[in-house]
Amino acid sequence: MAVINPWKVVLDEGSHCIIRAAEERDAREMVGHSDLVGGESPYLDYGAGEFFYTAKEEAQVIRYARAAANSLVLVAVVSEEIVGTLTLQGQISERLKHGAWLGITVARDFWGTGLARALMGAGLHWAEGNAALRVLYLLTHPENARAVALFKNFGFEEQGRLKHMFRSGDHFEDALCMWREV
Ligand SMILES: CC(C)(COP(=O)(O)OP(=O)(O)OC[C@H]1O[C@@H](n2cnc3c(N)ncnc32)[C@H](O)[C@@H]1OP(=O)(O)O)[C@@H](O)C(=O)NCCC(=O)NCCS
Repeated sequence: MAVINPWKVVLDEGSHCIIRAAEERDAREMVGHSDLVGGESPYLDYGAGEFFYTAKEEAQVIRYARAAANSLVLVAVVSEEIVGTLTLQGQISERLKHGAWLGITVARDFWGTGLARALMGAGLHWAEGNAALRVLYLLTHPENARAVALFKNFGFEEQGRLKHMFRSGDHFEDALCMWREV
C-alpha cells in the first residue's frame, strides 16, 4: 500500500500544513488545484484550465497509486484546502518498475514558504524506504530556476535534455531531465 503517515509541518510564514496521501475523495479538488496552478506558472505541462484529467480519471490515478508498491500521490493541506501536490508515478513493466517519475505543484500564494521543501522531504522519505524503487526521474523547464534549485537540494542531478518537448505555437523549447538514485 503506497500511503504515508501524515506529516504535520509549520511553513516558513507560520501556516500549519498537513501532508498526507491523497484519497479518492480529493480528486475533484485536486483537478481544480491543477487547473489553477497551470495559470500561475509558465513551466507546467498545461495552462489555466487545461489539466488533462477529469475528476473521475484523477480518482483512478489515486486509487492505482494507493494500491501500487512504487507510486505515491501526496496532497498538502492548509486550512482544509489543497495547496500543493507531489506525485511519484511508478513505471509498470518488469524492466522499468524500479523507477518513478516525480511531479510537484505549489499554489502561487505558497511559493517561497518551504512547502515544496516539505513535500519533497515527505516524498523522498517514502521513496528511500521503499525496496521497490531504485531511481527517480523528473522533467522540468531548464529556466525554472526555483524548481531546479529545489531538485538539486534534494540530490537530483541533470541528466540531459529532451529536444522540443514544450511547444507554444511555432516556438519549441527543450525539457531538462533530472534523476537520482534512492
Ligand atoms: C517550483 C516550486 C514547486 C517551488 O515551490 P516553493 O514552495 O516556492 O519552494 P520552497 O519555498 O520550498 O523552496 C524550495 C527551494 O527552492 C529554491 N528557491 C526558492 N525561491 C527561489 C528563488 N526565488 N530563486 C531560486 N531558487 C529559489 C531554494 O533552493 C529553496 O530551498 P531552500 O529554501 O531550502 O534554500 C513552485 O515554485 C511551483 O510550484 N512552481 C510552479 C510549478 C512548477 O514549476 N513545478 C515544477 C515543475 S517540474
